[in-house]
Amino acid sequence: MARTKAKSGGVIERMDAVVHDFCVRTRFFNEPMTRGRAMMFAMQHRLNTRQRNSVLKLKVASNCPDWDIRIGILRACAQEVIADHEHGGGRAHWEVLEALGQRIGLKKSQLRNAQPLPSTQLAWSAWEGLMANRHWLEGLVANTCAERANVPGYGRGVFKKSGWFGLERQRWGTLFALEGADLDFFELHEKADIEHSDMGWKAVATHARALRMEDAVVVACERNLLVWELYLNGIADAGDRLKVD
Ligand SMILES: [Fe+2]
Ligand SMILES: [Fe+2]
Repeated sequence: MARTKAKSGGVIERMDAVVHDFCVRTRFFNEPMTRGRAMMFAMQHRLNTRQRNSVLKLKVASNCPDWDIRIGILRACAQEVIADHEHGGGRAHWEVLEALGQRIGLKKSQLRNAQPLPSTQLAWSAWEGLMANRHWLEGLVANTCAERANVPGYGRGVFKKSGWFGLERQRWGTLFALEGADLDFFELHEKADIEHSDMGWKAVATHARALRMEDAVVVACERNLLVWELYLNGIADAGDRLKVD
């Protein structure tokens, strides 16, 4: 459905259709959240956000000839891995996630000693192919297309109304009886990721036509979100195998 929609229309409309399709098909979003899945998410996503923002996205920045966009990438990465003074009270996003992991019953040592799942390792290798040695505009789509799911409007129901992390805020709140600042990780991302992903979407709107890359950016969006689907469903499967009390 969205795949066919992705063949016609303006380039932003086509990328939006690809994101919508990702949101409605990915099992991790559409199956119930469980304690095991949430714990596995905290462990894997802490590693993933560090890898993406200290390695993969920087490869895209170094390929980008546009100074403002390059600095925008570095700023977004710094918020994720060094310190977010704007939305995170000076904490890096992985630190906020580490705090959330402890609130749902993980020990700090479990979070810090966690190893990437085979599916997470595969995702990193696949993203490396899609982000390093690629045209910067395709790379920028890779940097920002998953954060797009945190912008309300894609998917259905709560997902559509509040974005992916709005849905998680609700699901984790119910599952672990958390509220307010406990759920900061999901809260801060709504604002931070609208800014981060707008960078990618605006660059595509401005540059795709001039560079004759309309089809290439839509394909990049599809391929990158396939990898995100593999990564998230890998977390769901490993979460189901996790022994939780
Ligand atoms: Fe983040
Ligand atoms: Fe972000």
